[in-house]
Amino acid sequence: MTTTVTLTGAGGQIGYALLFRIAAGDMLGPDEKVRLRLLEIPAGIAAAEGAALELQDGAFGLLEHVEVTDDPAVGFDGADHALLVGARPRGPGMERGDLLAANGSIFGPQGAAIAAHAAPGVRVTVVGNPANTNALIAAAAADGVPAERFSALTRLDENRARGQLAAALNAPVADIAGVTIWGNHSATQFPDVARATVAGRPVWDALAEQTGDVRAWLDSTFIPRVAKRGAEIIQVRGSSSVASAANATIDHVRDGALGTGERRTSAAVISHGEYGVPEGLISSFPVRAVDGAWQIVEGLYPDDWARERIDRSVAELVEERDAVRALGLI
Ligand SMILES: NC(=O)c1ccc[n+]([C@@H]2O[C@H](COP(=O)([O-])OP(=O)(O)OC[C@H]3O[C@@H](n4cnc5c(N)ncnc54)[C@H](O)[C@@H]3O)[C@@H](O)[C@H]2O)c1
Repeated sequence: MTTTVTLTGAGGQIGYALLFRIAAGDMLGPDEKVRLRLLEIPAGIAAAEGAALELQDGAFGLLEHVEVTDDPAVGFDGADHALLVGARPRGPGMERGDLLAANGSIFGPQGAAIAAHAAPGVRVTVVGNPANTNALIAAAAADGVPAERFSALTRLDENRARGQLAAALNAPVADIAGVTIWGNHSATQFPDVARATVAGRPVWDALAEQTGDVRAWLDSTFIPRVAKRGAEIIQVRGSSSVASAANATIDHVRDGALGTGERRTSAAVISHGEYGVPEGLISSFPVRAVDGAWQIVEGLYPDDWARERIDRSVAELVEERDAVRALGLI
């Protein structure tokens, strides 16, 4: 079998970190051949073409074909997976409304092009920020493609949360499971450890031994560290998260395509009212992937303390949705 993968922003930093891992089979498995379509704007075409030359030089056995284009009709042609990474960053003096409008003019037309040209079963992963609302805009413009096929990436936040817990508990990160990211991929997100485990034991119990007051530690240390990790990386590294974002994208798409089994993870997907999140928002939830589709895991009942934090992030998503609605973008 050959899978067609379209990557937007292929000439950018995350694109460069993603392409070689996709070609190596990290995303879709060691037996799945891949056809890559690199979609850029004219300013990014040369960088994408350079990456395509290097892909050729990688002599990847799974890579059947690479096409570089700035035409969405060509870029999304036959796409089984569309990875929407290219986005408009916030420029100096740009207000949030300007940012939403600038990205709306990217993600609306891309959603329409996906509906017109992609494979019938296309699955769309949005990485470009503001990811949840960009996914909402793309899904709204993709006439005939079920909104359930769109998701936005919060796996980087989940991976960051697992990394922080592993460090705090002096445990291998592979032993940490069951962390949930709720809400928006932004500083309001709520990384929830209530049902997380470390080597099968509740993380909460292990944290109680370490910290005494778990909620105080979560509020003062863990939640801000995870939610503001992107800013920390920029401060330390002098540039935004790239390889970890590409890695999380690989994790997310691989889970979506190959399934999670009983393991829970996090992804921003369309709400049908689960956990009181207004219907139609693309919000991060606990999910599993079954037969190529994301399913929200229900019945995890957040307590009042968690609920308050989830509601805060969901309120931000409502504001973003109302802003793009007022702009006529959805
Ligand atoms: N969801 C997450 O966890 C997460 C994490 C890190 C970064 N991000 C976001 O990912 C996005 C990409 O980050 P980056 O570091 O690769 O940025 P970058 O600026 O290096 O690359 C972005 C690329 O997108 C291209 N592009 C812009 N508009 C496009 C369009 N309409 N069609 C196709 N390509 C287009 C640009 O030419 C550029 O090459 C940013 O929005 C960033 O905020 C998300």
